Amino acid sequence: MTSQLAIELEDKYGAHNYHPLPVVLEKGKGAKVWDVEGKEYFDFLSAYSAVNQGHCHPRIVGALKEQAEKLTLTSRAFYNDVLGSYEKYITEYFGFDKVLPMNTGAEADETALKLCRKWGYMKKGIPENKAKIIVCENNFHGRTITIISMSTDPVAYTDFGPFTPGFITIPYNDLKSLEKELKNDPNIAGFLVEPIQGEAGVFVPEDGYLKKAYDLCKQYNVLFIADEVQTGIARTGKLLACEHENVHPDILILGKAISGGVFPISAVLANDDIMLCIKPGEHGSTFGGNPIACKVAEAALEVVRDENLCERAEELGKIFRNEMKNINSDMVELVRGKGLLNAIVIRPKNGKTAWDVCVKMKENGVLAKPTHQDIIRFAPPLIITEEELYEAIDLIKKSILSFE
Ligand SMILES: Cc1ncc(COP(=O)(O)O)c(C=O)c1O
Repeated sequence: MTSQLAIELEDKYGAHNYHPLPVVLEKGKGAKVWDVEGKEYFDFLSAYSAVNQGHCHPRIVGALKEQAEKLTLTSRAFYNDVLGSYEKYITEYFGFDKVLPMNTGAEADETALKLCRKWGYMKKGIPENKAKIIVCENNFHGRTITIISMSTDPVAYTDFGPFTPGFITIPYNDLKSLEKELKNDPNIAGFLVEPIQGEAGVFVPEDGYLKKAYDLCKQYNVLFIADEVQTGIARTGKLLACEHENVHPDILILGKAISGGVFPISAVLANDDIMLCIKPGEHGSTFGGNPIACKVAEAALEVVRDENLCERAEELGKIFRNEMKNINSDMVELVRGKGLLNAIVIRPKNGKTAWDVCVKMKENGVLAKPTHQDIIRFAPPLIITEEELYEAIDLIKKSILSFE
């Protein structure tokens, strides 16, 4: 296989729903990946923060292999011998009574929306079909019809209507708008928020936003739902980004790195008064909570703890932002982020944009992808060593400075 052939095959036989950087990967280990021609790269995307524990972590892959040879899928029509212990493990790990296991991030978001509405009717007493959920501008929660019904990005929703009703959109990082909506409408069941907006370009809200938003939700008896699919599992320097403000969400949505990137695994966590609103038969998924997923997720979470990934993300993130801010180029308009979830806003120069910077970085051995026109997100695996990080920083600097 050559890069050219692989790209041609995808182009000819695959739907054109992505626009990848022209690199064809065949191997990954730790913070590095290799293309089919054997060229080595630092992975500074980590599959959108799914590979926090590093590529092919032996402990996680080991758990996958071991379980795959024993029992892969029972469906939830029967019990299996690992789901219960995984549920105990993950609920204790994050401090909730119950978990509802799913597969992808979008499914977990859908699950949280259903759960929130159900709670609104059963516990808050919202009249039938009147429940509303507040969401934020520039959100990203996935690709299903209901989720794009909440989107403010025309690329995500155009020509996919009609849309699911029941959402109120407010600006992100805007407590006044939140309070206004909460005050106006007794039928609001929940507020769904990303603690940092990843896809929007690593947009970090003001300090205190999450805590104050949470307090407002409590004041108006509304569920605070945190989508930590991208920010969770140590990425921002804490196990959950909400922890930066000591917020314990009513409903927590996890995905991506809960598997270390080896398997689609997601989860919704909540306490009994919320989670037990959903009764047998009302929600589920054939693969959700399958034995392989249980073992993989447990191993992935053990790695986060045993390898101190929160502390690593916190410390290395500071180094990264510092070094990026010191790049002497007017293309670097802004550097922002938390832990190892960071972004640079690129000011175009001589017609060269964030895409050109990413192509140059690829040539120099660092893989990252623009989000929107002018922002590059930098999210290496959290197991990257300090030495590797400095190596990658030099390559990023060299790439940006080549446009001077
Ligand atoms: C915050 C957030 N929620 C949900 C999703 C959707 O996850 P998935 O692609 O696994 O459906 C993403 C994916 O990028 C995300 O960043």
